[in-house]
Amino acid sequence: MKQTTEPVKTIEWVILPAGGTCRIIDQTLLPTELRYIDIDDAEAMWEAIKMLRVRGAPAIGIAAAFGVYLGVRHSPAATIDAFIADVNRVAAYLATSRPTAVNLFWALDRVKQLVNTEAGLRIEDQAPAQSKIQNLKSKILNESIHMIAEDNAVCRAIGQHTVALINDGDGWLTHCNAGGLATAQWGTALAGFYMAAEQGKQVHVFADETRPLLQGARLTAWELQRAGIPVTLITDNMAAMVMSQGKVKGVIVGTDRVAANGDFANKIGTLGVSILAKEFGIPVYVAAPTSSIDMSLASGDLIPIEERKPDEVTHGFGRQTGPDGVGVFNPAFDVTPARYVTAFITEHGIAHAPFLNTLPKVMKAAP
Ligand code: MRU
Repeated sequence: MKQTTEPVKTIEWVILPAGGTCRIIDQTLLPTELRYIDIDDAEAMWEAIKMLRVRGAPAIGIAAAFGVYLGVRHSPAATIDAFIADVNRVAAYLATSRPTAVNLFWALDRVKQLVNTEAGLRIEDQAPAQSKIQNLKSKILNESIHMIAEDNAVCRAIGQHTVALINDGDGWLTHCNAGGLATAQWGTALAGFYMAAEQGKQVHVFADETRPLLQGARLTAWELQRAGIPVTLITDNMAAMVMSQGKVKGVIVGTDRVAANGDFANKIGTLGVSILAKEFGIPVYVAAPTSSIDMSLASGDLIPIEERKPDEVTHGFGRQTGPDGVGVFNPAFDVTPARYVTAFITEHGIAHAPFLNTLPKVMKAAP
């Protein structure tokens, strides 16, 4: 039977009587509450990204672009140069929210470049500075809104490539949440499952709970269950057992940043899952929009890894789970070496090893 429930929209631009606002799902409240919150300034967007109200690499890229608009929409700049300085200042501020997902920086650079190009084009223009600045503000907003449609198309394309790898009746395992909630709507790693369901293919997803912040349990299990896709939640330390019993035919995860050699960063625990999969002869696919590929980094050891507060580990389940004052190591991501990757699934096709040859090809296809 085909499933018809579309994934929820993670981020939207909404026009209210008081003006436009960026509406996001507050993902910290899932799975028990689906609440939308309106973000009206750059500071609130910074906080939403930092606190994981909006999270997942593609979604935080889009959020950051809206954040720039929100930060400059009331800019009192009187000259184009002053306005560009405002854009750069707000973008630099948003860039401090989270370090690992390259999509954040990709989106901020894209907005800065747009403003520079548009400002340059109008240099001979006789229009007063105020109307040019107004026009630049509209361009930033339109670009941010356009990123949503673009992300939907990218995720659907990744899903098309993925679904060809899924056989009827397969079990697959995923880690963290690279679903609709991590993007504008369709997800990267989960897009193939949505499309399999659309095509009437039965697929059973094992979702790692993903300690410490439980994105797999709170978000992946929630969104797949909501869509009617069979999902079984397991704790992270059950993945080996599930693989050893032949329950999964493939692993598919998302990524926050892929280096030029094919090493990739993703949610902490992905490295362990990838090593296990190799042991059990299970392929590991990485759903990677080209906006997550950072060709400026030669290898994964150059990817900045976010470390988060100890209390995410010591107070994980609404109660204290570690002794007072205990030392804690809490990296939010790990880096999986390219040798564990079967292929990257991008919107422009599937890249197999050797990645030094194949990643430039998919990047070339990107605009
Ligand atoms: O800390 P998070 O929840 O933002 O981490 C998200 C992930 O690690 C995702 O797998 C990654 O961003 C890819 S999302 C398509």
